[in-house]
Amino acid sequence: MSNQVECKVENGYIIAPKGLKNVVPDVTYISGVDPKGEHTIYRGYTIDDIGANASFYEATWLFHKGELPCDEELKEIKKKIDTYRGQIPEKIFDALKLVPKAHPMYYGAFGVTLLGQYNAPDEWRFDEDFLFEHALRLIAQLPVIFAAGWNLAHHGTIIRPDPNLDHAKDVLRMIIRRMPSDLEARAFESSLVLYMDHGFNASTFTTRVIASTLSDMYSAIAGGIGALKGPLHGGANEKALVMLLEAKKLAEEKGKPLEEYIEEYILEKLAKKEKIMGFGHRVYKIHDPRTDVAAKYIQQLPEGEYWLKVLKKAEEVMWREKKLPANIDFYTAILYYQLGIPIPMFTPVFAMGRIVGWTAHYIEQVLNNKIIRPSEKYVGPVGKKYQPLEARCKK
Ligand code: ACO
Repeated sequence: MSNQVECKVENGYIIAPKGLKNVVPDVTYISGVDPKGEHTIYRGYTIDDIGANASFYEATWLFHKGELPCDEELKEIKKKIDTYRGQIPEKIFDALKLVPKAHPMYYGAFGVTLLGQYNAPDEWRFDEDFLFEHALRLIAQLPVIFAAGWNLAHHGTIIRPDPNLDHAKDVLRMIIRRMPSDLEARAFESSLVLYMDHGFNASTFTTRVIASTLSDMYSAIAGGIGALKGPLHGGANEKALVMLLEAKKLAEEKGKPLEEYIEEYILEKLAKKEKIMGFGHRVYKIHDPRTDVAAKYIQQLPEGEYWLKVLKKAEEVMWREKKLPANIDFYTAILYYQLGIPIPMFTPVFAMGRIVGWTAHYIEQVLNNKIIRPSEKYVGPVGKKYQPLEARCKK
């Protein structure tokens, strides 16, 4: 893969490639690809190491404080996140009762701006302790908002958070409306950690752009949620499952095993120039290491062996045809299906992990800030003059 930047300089302006591909707008100490270009690093550790081994609390501390926590620090962050989860103003639940049955990512953006109105002081501040406290509130409360919005719209009731449960187990319980097993809770927790951050991905960059105007953290996170919703970013896990279930149905109708039929299904889509959701990545051109961690949990959950065969076959076909690897969304699509998470909640779950990265990036940006305001190259017409309606629309 060539990392050659196709930038041109014209009249002192750098003309960046479309999509800012290979453009580095700033440095970060939080996460990114190591200098050799081999691994994605979370604060010095590889993404798969932390994804496979760290708890939600440990990884959150790592992102925000730069090191894995020791005993007292771990107790502190666990206590705060578990307590904040139960401290959402009742009026926010009342407001969520008024929203229509819509995509739940809307509930997140709506709920976060409401949270800002309750939690944020009139004068937003930029000291580290203050920002960390608000980050923890957002990390704890966003999942409750998503789950409450979903449950109200689809079941008419809220499932309240239980501060005595671990964050991941409690969040999964609110989403699937039953107590998860320890294995299910750990599989879910691991996926949240895998989703926590990934350099300057689209939603993190959006969050940093908003942070760079010195807006408050709640407004910046609402922007991140909007960017994540798109099918080229977080929305891909939902689309990947819809596609896999469609392939499963067609395979059954044709009386073929899915692990064989998936090849025919993918080839037909490629022939129609359709994208296969859950494949391709701006950074991973050969392999997404997060898929290995997710695969370990898929294997231990119902029909794991069956689904892994299907996923591996799809990967083999996509590599042969397009030289594209599967990304994490292809694997979490099946993992979340196995856990019984409703499909429209897949992207909200991504946000429940990514909010850790968004808040850490918000803080990094505002504490060493320069407003992010690129220039444009205007290529439209010039020299037109305003004409009144009668003159400009004369037949
Ligand atoms: N299926 C089929 N073809 C694809 C796919 C795909 N999933 N992804 C890329 N391609 C093709 C492109 O059409 C392009 O072909 P071309 O050169 O003939 O035009 C070529 O592969 C290169 O891809 P780009 O689009 O240049 O890659 P880019 O880095 O711009 O985009 C992206 C990356 C957005 C992830 C893209 O691969 C995609 O749309 N994938 C599907 C959506 C998806 O899975 N998103 C999740 C991303 S991971 C995440 O958010 C956690």
